[in-house]
Amino acid sequence: MDLATTYMGLTLRNPIVASASPLNSDVGNIERLAEAGAAAVVLPSLFEEQIEADEARRAALVERTAESFPEALSYFPQQAEYAVGPDAYLELIRRARAAVEIPVIASLNGITDDAWLDYARLMEQAGASALELNIYFIPADLTLTGPAVEQRYRDIVRTVSAGVTIPVAVKLSPYFSAPGSFALSLVEAGARGLVLFNRFYQPDIELARLELLANLELSRPNEIRLPLLWLAVLSGKVKASLAATSGVGTADDIVKYLLVGADVVMTTSALLRHGVDYIETLLSGLEAWLKARDFGGVGEMRGLLDQSRVRNPLAFERANYIRILQGYT
Ligand SMILES: Cc1cc2nc3c(=O)[nH]c(=O)nc-3n(C[C@H](O)[C@H](O)[C@H](O)COP(=O)(O)O)c2cc1C
Repeated sequence: MDLATTYMGLTLRNPIVASASPLNSDVGNIERLAEAGAAAVVLPSLFEEQIEADEARRAALVERTAESFPEALSYFPQQAEYAVGPDAYLELIRRARAAVEIPVIASLNGITDDAWLDYARLMEQAGASALELNIYFIPADLTLTGPAVEQRYRDIVRTVSAGVTIPVAVKLSPYFSAPGSFALSLVEAGARGLVLFNRFYQPDIELARLELLANLELSRPNEIRLPLLWLAVLSGKVKASLAATSGVGTADDIVKYLLVGADVVMTTSALLRHGVDYIETLLSGLEAWLKARDFGGVGEMRGLLDQSRVRNPLAFERANYIRILQGYT
């Protein structure tokens, strides 16, 4: 069974990638993931805040982060035990590369424009096989316009892609008025991979203490639906690799993502729930599905149900609410 796939020019033995999470900050886990069959790992993001040596500047950044980048609260060093400083991060890249044969993708989450390139280069020098840019940006400043936000993304992607030789992927937000055309413009700016979608931290309120609740929940299976839609729309129309992230619970979810055109499918919550060896279960489930349908490999079924190939392409755009609701009456 040929499970091989290509992601941003990297040949992967299968399409299952362990996405950025605390699990992948431990080289022992990375080794176990590789043994269990993961085709690549994405290291947890290095946040620009972790890089700042100057304490005053650091404090200002933390404040700014809390205002404008609330998701960082959930992954931020003070709240996340796994987070490491920049030197330790570069060391993690080196040790992971030495420990496993599979590609090790570094992830960078910056805020100020100048930091992206410097650290991207350091990551490349440390041996990262590719970079994932987690451009997480909540435009809470109400004077910021949509075009200005999009331009900021493009500038970062253009600068980093031009400054390193390894491929660069962007972990995207779904919250753009036209995610498809925006994605195309990022590819034009140099992105070789698009990761759909970043799961935005969304606050809740703790009523007993009248405080914001800044916790991070693991994903649920129905979260595959939004990435599924946009992968289906982009498949075959974008000159970049497509990665699916969010909501993978079982091998069936991986199959669905591949059917709409994903080159790789990433998973974190399932590994946190079931342990890193769960990769084996996902992989054997994918293989069993392909065998049962007489597919000789992943290449034969990828994109079969993307928007350009599905029998009713409009089904991706318009749900017939009247018919659906009739089922409830
Ligand atoms: C505890 C935890 C930590 C995470 N840390 C990062 C991170 O550092 N950088 C990043 O880009 N995504 C991070 N993510 C997001 C995951 O990589 C993934 O995109 C998201 O959880 C959706 O995939 P899933 O449904 O398989 O969990 C984190 C997710 C969790 C649950």
